[in-house]
Amino acid sequence: MHVLVTGGAGYIGSHTVLLLLEEGHTVSVLDNFSNSSPESLLRVQKLTDRAVEVYEADLLDRDELHGIVMRSRPDAVIHFAGLKAVGESVSEPLLYYRNNVVGTLNLLDAMSAAGCKKLVFSSSATVYGDSVELPLLETTVRSATNPYGRTKLHIEEMLEELGASNPQWSIANLRYFNPVGAHESGQIGEDPQGVPNNLMPFVAQVAIGKREKVNIFGDDYATADGTGVRDYIHVMDLAAGHLAALNYLSTHKGVNAWNLGTGHGTSVLEVIQAFARVSKRDVPYKVVERRPGDVAESYAHPEKAMLDLGWKAERGLEQMVEDMWRWQEQNPDGYRQNV
Ligand code: NAD
Ligand code: WQD
Repeated sequence: MHVLVTGGAGYIGSHTVLLLLEEGHTVSVLDNFSNSSPESLLRVQKLTDRAVEVYEADLLDRDELHGIVMRSRPDAVIHFAGLKAVGESVSEPLLYYRNNVVGTLNLLDAMSAAGCKKLVFSSSATVYGDSVELPLLETTVRSATNPYGRTKLHIEEMLEELGASNPQWSIANLRYFNPVGAHESGQIGEDPQGVPNNLMPFVAQVAIGKREKVNIFGDDYATADGTGVRDYIHVMDLAAGHLAALNYLSTHKGVNAWNLGTGHGTSVLEVIQAFARVSKRDVPYKVVERRPGDVAESYAHPEKAMLDLGWKAERGLEQMVEDMWRWQEQNPDGYRQNV
């Protein structure tokens, strides 16, 4: 299958492109490199010994986007491209609506024009808002607590309405829980710019000595050890979920949502302890105030993906941390040292 991957140079995109190539698919990537580097795709091509067609382009440039989709005529699109920093979305809401919602709208127009009606969309567990109903099921009521989350919710709704208007579309809304880890080679991984917003990359930078200590955002939650609990999922398991969804779309029409999570919750303290154990380094931490907007616990009910897609997460916390640590040690400055 020929797959066009938007945002394919990014963290989750690059790991998925690698797996697509390994499985024999033909891959084109469209990325504006606003939060990534072409180096990730160079490494993916080296690791797989396969070539990727790379378009440096912006989803907001409608004409260029149409030209690319018409020219490359993909069988399916996996749509990762988007901005994802929750805090930034609060200070720059229009940037997020424009980039994520308008960008997706442009992509759908271009796909329609090219007659491509198979789409895998990067949604997020953020569409469950601050739901207290656990584990989170695909049928759990959706809501948003910030502009970033609302862009994902609006896009899911837009895709549902598109599917209802034209039954030829095959669409998968994949709701990721907390993606972490790296490819086992240590050659590709997450490369956050500036101070990482997410826990795992922050802990990795403390372990390597780039940052002094982890600030634990609250230890008075109603959880086993008082710190926040999340469903961390290995990025290679997540990548495999996209291939399973693509497979499903080749034989099913309609719009569906699937949770991609492990179904298992891990606390902040457990993450820190796992990192200290694997890296054999000190990981100092300090408990500070809760971060506004955080929920105590979030974890998936992952059965629907197993039933429909035959997919489930295979890797546990130890492997997530080991792979992340390998990437961190081999690339202390991410991709920047090579560009
Ligand atoms: P990322 O920032 O590493 O990758 C996104 C890619 O999209 C980057 O390469 C960026 O340059 C590109 N991009 C952004 N706007 C673009 C535009 N207008 N035109 C072309 N390219 C553009 O992020 P990621 O962690 O790989 O996330 C991928 C997707 O998954 C995003 O949509 C994100 O919202 C979603 N998601 C991520 C997480 C997470 O924690 N990482 C969780 C749930 C959902
Ligand atoms: C995990 C846990 C924090 C940092 C975010 C987005 C969500 C999704 C994934 C895309 C929480 C605690 C964190 C730190 C800490 N992205 N923490 N110290 O908040 O579950 O989800 O990323 O869709 O939309 O909101 O992930 O990694 O930021 O936090 O104590 O320095 O770690 O309070 O309990 P989160 P996270």
